[in-house]
This record gives sequence, structure tokens and C-alpha cells, in this order.
Amino acid sequence: MNTNVSEWYEKKEHIDEMKGWDRGKLKIWEQRVANNFPVRAKILDIGSGMGREAFALYSQGFEVVGLDASKDAVDKANEESLMRNCKLIFYYYDGEHIPFGDGMFEVVIIWSQTFGLLYGKSYKDSFLKECKRVLKPEGLLSYSGHSCNILGSIIMTVLMTINFIHI
Ligand SMILES: C[S@@+](CC[C@H](N)C(=O)[O-])C[C@H]1O[C@@H](n2cnc3c(N)ncnc32)[C@H](O)[C@@H]1O
Repeated sequence: MNTNVSEWYEKKEHIDEMKGWDRGKLKIWEQRVANNFPVRAKILDIGSGMGREAFALYSQGFEVVGLDASKDAVDKANEESLMRNCKLIFYYYDGEHIPFGDGMFEVVIIWSQTFGLLYGKSYKDSFLKECKRVLKPEGLLSYSGHSCNILGSIIMTVLMTINFIHI
């Protein structure tokens, strides 16, 4: 195991931070990235799960749409959204074809290491093309993965015109 990872997860401040992960808070670095998003930006949250990031960003005034390949997670997140009386909808899809039109979003986020769940170069390639398609021309893509090498040359060949924020 990478010692940077184990050291990070053993620090008291980070343990305390993790306790809050299920309480709708953004992680420290996620908040730092979100501070760069345009005010009230329309954000597509890919791998939205139970909506931790989506609800937190929504409460900061962003317009958020959740998207996940798990139907159960999407159903539960939508129940939560109804309960909280939020205008936040979570969508289920096939994990490949993003079910939205071209240029609809100012920001796409793929956080919580979800990018690492897109196994294989050709899957990552076509997935990033989909992200680019749904982003506005000056749109931002922010992803997180366990290794900063996971994108490799993909960044250069597929997404040259997208602004990246790597957390
Ligand atoms: C590590 S969890 C993160 C959940 C949420 N973002 C959070 O922090 O609580 C990863 C999520 O990605 C979803 N997922 C996996 N592959 C996906 C894909 N190709 N497209 C969209 N979601 C995917 C899983 O169903 C799961 O909900």
C-alpha cells in the first residue's frame, strides 16, 4: 500500500473529516475545487451515489443533476431529495451513454475516486468524450482517482479543449 495513502487516512484531522462524509459535507479538497466553479453553475455529478456531493453543492447554490449506474442508489437519493424538498434529481443510466444533450453543463464532476471505476483505456476514452459532449465549450471537468497517472495520455488526446481541475 502507498504510504501517502495510509498516512493520510491515519491523521486525526482526516479521521474527523471522514466522520462527516455522510453528513453532506464536501471533503476539504472538493470544497477548494468547488470554489473555482462559476456562481450557480449547472453541474453534472457522475457517480452521485447517495448524493453526498450533490446535496452539498446544491446547498451552496449550484444547480446539480446526479447520475449513477446504480438504480438503488439513484432511487434512494431521489427519496432523500424529496424528503429534503430539494430541486435535485438523480438519474439512472447504462454507465456509458450520458442521457443529456450537448453542451448542457458548465461543470462535470467525477469525484470520490469514481473515475478509477471506469476500467480500461477504451472505456475511459469514450466516457471522457461523452463528458466533453455534454459540457459547454468552456466547461470544467473535475475528477478524482487513486492515482494521478490514471489518465495518462488520455487528457492530452481526448480532452485538449476542456479545462481540468485535478483534485
Ligand atoms: C465511491 S462511490 C461514490 C458515491 C458518492 N459520490 C459519494 O461520495 O458518496 C462510486 C459511485 O459511482 C457509481 N458508478 C460506478 N461506475 C459508474 C459509471 N460508469 N457511471 C456512473 N456512476 C458509476 C457507483 O454506483 C457508486 O454510486
